Amino acid sequence: MSRKPVIAGNWKMHHDHYVAIQVVQKLSYRLEPADYERAEVVVCPPFTDLRTLQTLIDADRLEIQLGAQDCYWEDQGAFTGEVSAPMLAKLSVRYVIVGHSERRQLFGDTDETVNKKLRAVLKHGMVPIVCVGETLEENEAGATAERVGSQTRGAFAGMKAADAAGCVVAYEPIWAIGTGRNATPDDADRTIGVIRGALRDLYRDTADAMRIQYGGSVKPGNIGELMAMPEIDGALVGGASLDPDDFARIVNWRR
Ligand code: PGA
Repeated sequence: MSRKPVIAGNWKMHHDHYVAIQVVQKLSYRLEPADYERAEVVVCPPFTDLRTLQTLIDADRLEIQLGAQDCYWEDQGAFTGEVSAPMLAKLSVRYVIVGHSERRQLFGDTDETVNKKLRAVLKHGMVPIVCVGETLEENEAGATAERVGSQTRGAFAGMKAADAAGCVVAYEPIWAIGTGRNATPDDADRTIGVIRGALRDLYRDTADAMRIQYGGSVKPGNIGELMAMPEIDGALVGGASLDPDDFARIVNWRR
């Protein structure tokens, strides 16, 4: 089953819209048409950069795709500070990260709200990148499989196979995020296999077509060995996506 890898940069709360222009322009200069054929290339900047980058991507006809880092599940209403899925769709956003561990740990996202956000993203024709991953304590207690399995079931609860088929899942062990310490390719591959197993229980016929990324301290120096693993269908990259040279080297890992 061939699954086109997705390499997505999660800028988190970095780069204002002026810097965003420079970063995306530099990234585009460093990539070749073949890079986009081998993998989808996505940048997920802060909300305030989206309109500027949409304009740049349109004007220069770039193949880089836009992603957002979160959204709210209602289309509109009295929800001060929130941004809705249809607002993102209007900005040509293609991917939306939902349930990143920072949202879960710092901003109260739960399996239930992740499920609502995922539905909202799909309803408006975008692709969710659903993040799952265990804490260091869970990892050391041997509870990784149980944790990612339950997060996966929670995120996709009640969702039909046809809707789930296009979703991307990102396995991000929390202890590997921003720490410089990535999961070994073997461990990442094994846990992604567990996630695919949980998806197969839900969606027997479509789970093998769903893409599952690895995230957590991905860098130019380790992307090759990660991408060589059969279950890993791309990467969600934080720190190393901020620098266009580093991110380009990650995107064109096969060159
Ligand atoms: P990192 O972050 O690459 O800086 O570890 C990954 C993420 O949080 O998506």
